[in-house]
Amino acid sequence: KQIDPCTLVLFGASGNLSRVKLMPGLFRLDAAGRLPAEMKILSVGRGEVSREAWLADIKGMLDAKFKKGYDQQVFERFIERNFYHANPPTDPNAFQRMKETLSNDKVFPQNLAYFLSVRPSDFAPVVDQLAAVDLLNEENYWRRVVIEKPFGTDLPSAKALQASITKHLKESQIYRIDHYLGKSALQNIMLQRFANTLLEPIWNKDYIDHVQITNTEMLGVGDRTQFYDATGALRDMIQSHILQTLALTAMEMPAALTPEGIRAEKIKVLEAIRAIPVDQLDKHAFRAQYAAGEVNGEQVPGYLEELGDSSSVVETYAALKLFIDNPRWEGVPFYIRTAKRLHEADTRISIRFKKSPLQIGDGQDQNWLMLGIQPRECIKMEIQSKIPGLDINTRTIQLDAANRQDGDESIDAYEALLLNLMEGDNSLYLHISEVEAQWRLVDPVIEAWAKDRQPVHQYPAGSRDPEASKVIFEHEDQFWRYSIELGGDAH
Ligand code: BG6
Repeated sequence: KQIDPCTLVLFGASGNLSRVKLMPGLFRLDAAGRLPAEMKILSVGRGEVSREAWLADIKGMLDAKFKKGYDQQVFERFIERNFYHANPPTDPNAFQRMKETLSNDKVFPQNLAYFLSVRPSDFAPVVDQLAAVDLLNEENYWRRVVIEKPFGTDLPSAKALQASITKHLKESQIYRIDHYLGKSALQNIMLQRFANTLLEPIWNKDYIDHVQITNTEMLGVGDRTQFYDATGALRDMIQSHILQTLALTAMEMPAALTPEGIRAEKIKVLEAIRAIPVDQLDKHAFRAQYAAGEVNGEQVPGYLEELGDSSSVVETYAALKLFIDNPRWEGVPFYIRTAKRLHEADTRISIRFKKSPLQIGDGQDQNWLMLGIQPRECIKMEIQSKIPGLDINTRTIQLDAANRQDGDESIDAYEALLLNLMEGDNSLYLHISEVEAQWRLVDPVIEAWAKDRQPVHQYPAGSRDPEASKVIFEHEDQFWRYSIELGGDAH
């Protein structure tokens, strides 16, 4: 697609996201020849930093990210694109000065994309300030604003943020990030479902016993304790990434694979998820915290120790049981879970099919179909097959195909999203209706959990799902599939 010459104004440029994802992502886009020659990047930060020092800082970011080195010619070109603007919070004229800097059209193309990689409480104030100095309106050039996650901390605050920014922006100018949508493996869910007549006919309540959406990490909360303790796993992962994964797994086939077509179906299915009954919360939602334990042979502290506050009930493990009230999914439980410090880093969709009416022998298992998102992008199917020999008995075998082949491009989610932003394509960004439907679903659970101050379940870092999480299963023969590998359903 054609990209207009533009300037990317990067707020929070010295922050972690920018260092680890955005700058390296922009560099890779440059190396791939995807950035227009005139494109510039104006980094905005609180500190007074000279351009020279900022360019040296960028070099450090790239050195840290690309350990095997990078093309020097691309580096020279990339460095030429970069500028810095100090925006100290104490300076009332900072935005006016920024406007003056940007008005130099010999250096800065006048189409402007603002990327707000700042504290969520600063989203609305930054947009207000941009509007106050008239940096959001321009007839001949476009203006776009990227809002990082989380968009609000609950439904009322998301609505308030929306009301605030739409004073100055049209929906088409707002790019709400859920970086999972930039992952090729997530886009593949939809393609594998709808490009294969083999799968779609059995993708429903007639054949499927239940669906599991799993996202586990071995990492802990690291140095984000403050943010995390105000957020929790439900807000951090389920409200966003996991519900989007669920939407792509469960939605109907869009009339066309257009941004509007896909969004409309995602919104429909998100809105069809049944509200979680708060009076029976224990059967529908489960939370836990990691305690000290061992990960990769290393002793690691528990969440409360890292936080330094033993009264926190904030969850690092969250699981929900959801039902979708539509003809395709009536009665099929969707078990979704996320965790820090589990035994394995694993993001996947696992679908368990109903039992065959013909029972052969005693050890007959059911069929699973699994879509691996990360670390490995793959599709796996488990089927029953005869054990060769005199007896009639079956065992499970696994068909396994990698979605990624040698030589395939490997693009980071942020790279894809940055490119789409410059192209003016917001199909991989969230519509406000999606954000609202997602908050509407999790808010009652967050509220109930915040009120219940009893100590939460603990699981040792590096372990599998806490035993007590099983309370959310509908049937006795349902259980967490703890690994995508063959045998990962032993329980
Ligand atoms: C972020 C969460 O949105 O996603 C983090 O805030 C989480 O807590 C991260 O670790 C996971 O992203 P990825 O791309 O590494 O799976």
